[in-house]
Amino acid sequence: MSRLRVASLSRLPENLTYPITLADDTEITLVRVGSEVFALYDRCSHEDIPLSQGKVLPEQCRIKCRAHGAEFDLRSGRALCAPAFAPVRTYQVVIDGDDVYIEYDEDD
Ligand code: FES
Repeated sequence: MSRLRVASLSRLPENLTYPITLADDTEITLVRVGSEVFALYDRCSHEDIPLSQGKVLPEQCRIKCRAHGAEFDLRSGRALCAPAFAPVRTYQVVIDGDDVYIEYDEDD
């Protein structure tokens, strides 16, 4: 399991996406909702559209794809409505002071 610092909590805008790219070109979007930060693979499971271009729905803890309106749970990545049915990958987020880390298995 690898831990990688990806952002400063104080610089993450609330209820907006914050796309990042890892050294291996994996694209992830961070989403801050209140004091929580979520990390999802930055592609809709319906078609190849970045979720970071979508709309955060903070009250429901969801993100809505801009292309065709599929919604995903920020916590689990679960697809919540058509036309997406498959989940998107999520990453464990660790917050330590102002430092935001993601944890991931490099073999995945
Ligand atoms: S590409 Fe996301 S809902 Fe179609």
